[in-house]
Amino acid sequence: MNYFVTGITGTVVPVIVEDLMKKDNNPVFYFAIRKDAKGNDIEKRFAAVVDSLDLDHAAKQIVLKKSKLVEIDVEQENLGIAPDLYAELIANTDKILHGAADVRFDQPYEKIRVPNVVFTEKIYALFDKIKQQRAATGKTAPTLYYISTGYAYGDHRKPIPEEFPEFHPAAPDNTYAQTKAEAKFFILDKIKQFNDQIVIFEPTIIGGSARTGRTKTYNLHYVVMMLGYLGKLPFMTAENNRLDIVPVDWVAAIISDIMAGDALHQGVLRLAAGENGIPIKYLHDVGYDFYVANDPVPGHVIPKIRFVPRWVFNFMVQAQKNFYRLMYFGTRNARFRKLVKGISLLEGYFPYITRTKVFKNQKSMELIKKYTNCTEAPTLQDVFDKNGHLVQKGYYRKIMADTLETGWGGLVDFERLEKKTAGYKAPQAATVSALRK
Ligand SMILES: NC(=O)c1ccc[n+]([C@@H]2O[C@H](COP(=O)([O-])OP(=O)(O)OC[C@H]3O[C@@H](n4cnc5c(N)ncnc54)[C@H](OP(=O)(O)O)[C@@H]3O)[C@@H](O)[C@H]2O)c1
Repeated sequence: MNYFVTGITGTVVPVIVEDLMKKDNNPVFYFAIRKDAKGNDIEKRFAAVVDSLDLDHAAKQIVLKKSKLVEIDVEQENLGIAPDLYAELIANTDKILHGAADVRFDQPYEKIRVPNVVFTEKIYALFDKIKQQRAATGKTAPTLYYISTGYAYGDHRKPIPEEFPEFHPAAPDNTYAQTKAEAKFFILDKIKQFNDQIVIFEPTIIGGSARTGRTKTYNLHYVVMMLGYLGKLPFMTAENNRLDIVPVDWVAAIISDIMAGDALHQGVLRLAAGENGIPIKYLHDVGYDFYVANDPVPGHVIPKIRFVPRWVFNFMVQAQKNFYRLMYFGTRNARFRKLVKGISLLEGYFPYITRTKVFKNQKSMELIKKYTNCTEAPTLQDVFDKNGHLVQKGYYRKIMADTLETGWGGLVDFERLEKKTAGYKAPQAATVSALRK
């Protein structure tokens, strides 16, 4: 099968490609890729991705051999793809996986609309040309696999329904959700108009692998866990809210089964934990015990987080932000501006934590069981039956072990923290000995 794939330098798509290498006996890939902000060219970036794949050396060589890089620029006509290569894509592509998006929560609407909506429109334009070309030459219809998000439903107070081809989102939580909803409307409209073969995947929050605990991206709940570990999150709220986090290997296994299986060609699959979402209090309590017991920094004290009502939490966040803002205006010290920016970034995450979000997943689970080799998402938390017996071992510990092994992917420098911790204690010791004299 010939695949045109976007998002290969991201978190999720490389895991799908690893799986496709095992499930499709003759995969050929065209990868849409761009230079990065540091100026690394596409070959260098792709080599780094292949190197990081969880495949053996021989399989990596096959990926290199069977891949062609397509340099893209979303803002240009035909994604900026050279005309000969664009024609080759139209002639050769069987399936498109559109997994690229800007997943940041703090971007201005006009800016994030380009990678999330305009990109999707241009991918559809390519898909449409492939569809026409294949129809004209008597080939089977192509399929477009589009990765949306459960959070495109926004601030939905009731359990979030599984609709298809309808879509009734509430007010968006942020510009990411807003633009992902806009892209989904666009895609659904094409399905309604032309009965296109398009499968939409709706993962909720994608976390590290249930098998290894590893992740490429440490955002959202990872940031909250990190701030808790560093003692920079004295308060939290909504302790009974359940975060819907699903492991990346489960998400990739489903998407790759659907793609390689070639039996489901239209619809929406919500990839959610549903009723097995992880309660915030569990995330805190088990996390606190784990980090205290395994803290690599001697003498580092992890404060317990106090749970407060939502309004108190929101009020304190605003008060702290305004305080740092005032300090910046008063002192022009860049540290305060950085703190304001940090809080604004966190504010983008808060709706996911403070607002109740329950994702229905029953219809999707039926499709998942029918069309893939997967069952329910592995749970992060240990689950007890009504007699109090442990029936399922969660993978939360693997996730936490990875955060300590990697320092949250390099965000936490344990050596520095150790020096800071020691430095903090030293004056106290000196003071005590001075007092004794
Ligand atoms: N992660 C989650 O929790 C989650 C949950 C639900 C749904 N999803 C969806 O899953 C998909 C994959 O997410 P992810 O977590 O893997 O995201 P990610 O790690 O941030 O990767 C995003 C990918 O999109 C590419 N991209 C973004 N803007 C681009 C542009 N203008 N031109 C070309 N490429 C561009 C990035 O390329 P560069 O490296 O060049 O920037 C990167 O390959 C997205 O559609 C996302 O909305 C993610």
